[in-house]
Amino acid sequence: MPIINVDLGARSYPIHIGTGLLSRPGLIAAALPSRDVLIVTNDVVAPLYLATLREALSGYATRELILPDGERYKTLDTVSAILDELVAAGFGRDCTVLALGGGVIGDMAGFAAACYQRGVGFVQVPTTLLAQVDSSVGGKTAVNHSAGKNLIGAFYQPLCVIADTAALVTLDEREYRAGLAEVFKYGLILDRDFFAWLELALPALLRREPEALEQAITRSCEIKADIVARDETEQGIRALLNLGHTFGHAIEAVHGYGRWLHGEAVAAGMMMAAQFSVRVGSLQASAVSRIEALLEAAGLPTRPPPLQYQRFFAALHRDKKVQAGQLRLVLLDDIGRARLTSEFAGDELERFLHQSLEAAA
Ligand code: NAD
Ligand code: GLY
Repeated sequence: MPIINVDLGARSYPIHIGTGLLSRPGLIAAALPSRDVLIVTNDVVAPLYLATLREALSGYATRELILPDGERYKTLDTVSAILDELVAAGFGRDCTVLALGGGVIGDMAGFAAACYQRGVGFVQVPTTLLAQVDSSVGGKTAVNHSAGKNLIGAFYQPLCVIADTAALVTLDEREYRAGLAEVFKYGLILDRDFFAWLELALPALLRREPEALEQAITRSCEIKADIVARDETEQGIRALLNLGHTFGHAIEAVHGYGRWLHGEAVAAGMMMAAQFSVRVGSLQASAVSRIEALLEAAGLPTRPPPLQYQRFFAALHRDKKVQAGQLRLVLLDDIGRARLTSEFAGDELERFLHQSLEAAA
């Protein structure tokens, strides 16, 4: 069973990856500072996996909070409900908040753990592909505000991550494919060989074969763990993890949250980043063809939906990477080599956006 260490000194933690991990009693227990555990999950995941987890934690003073499913509940009100539950349980500073679910549950439970008594234990048990390769690792926690996604949050690292690949069998096909977009991202930004392996392994991944899944999740987590260890609070290299996200977030915001899944918007965003990289002369057109072929084979979008230019342009400039009004983009020099840059002509970007959005219309 692969174990990856996120190397953050005293706050280092393991990511365990494998099939059937949820039913291994010792694994989660080893990370818990005390018997007091609040399991936070939702009404889709609970009927599938809560009983197994409960069994693995028998002997612990577990409480359970089952939240309604959906991004629209990723709010301060829901975090407040988690905090109320911790207070009602009378849990002290040595308790643990355990997130069982996808990125929505993980982001909220982590933020609650960061806030309760100025920080208690936090364990991530991610159950979506996106959460296993991305959101459960690295300590970004957040809730949404009416003014924007993930506007309120904290960096708060878990004590451990348990990624049970067997949980992915129940995941909806569209959600699963959207998670693959984030896996492809790791190959694109930092690992050309991994990207080539993904091209070959895609049929096995689409069949959710355990060995292929374990390999894809392991390599994704290795890359993410390395980046987080080097730049926990995103002062530099961590921004590369946002390949396709500046365009993708703008697609989500303008198209309407929920119409496209995050990974779908990121897929189209990565294509836009790759095409713009060709436009500025840093990437060869043949690389774009490879990226497009992989995304298409995975059933992911390769172009944005029809969107109004002005709204898209405004949404792009609300990106968290804008500095002193200057848009910064993650662009590619090659497959496996990305960089964050603001060195492109504004009018070139505008022409590119006009053409991309016209092609989509
Ligand atoms: P999600 O948590 O909404 O899960 C997707 C759907 O799958 C939900 O309906 C969920 O209930 C269901 N589900 C979860 N596990 C399942 C399983 N094993 N079987 C069947 N159904 C299951 O979405 P997500 O894609 O996991 O996460 C998206 C969220 O993650 C967003 O809020 C995004 O902002 C956040 N995110 C955070 C980070 C980070 O670094 N913290 C990174 C990327 C995304
Ligand atoms: N999902 C991007 C990051 O964790 O930095």
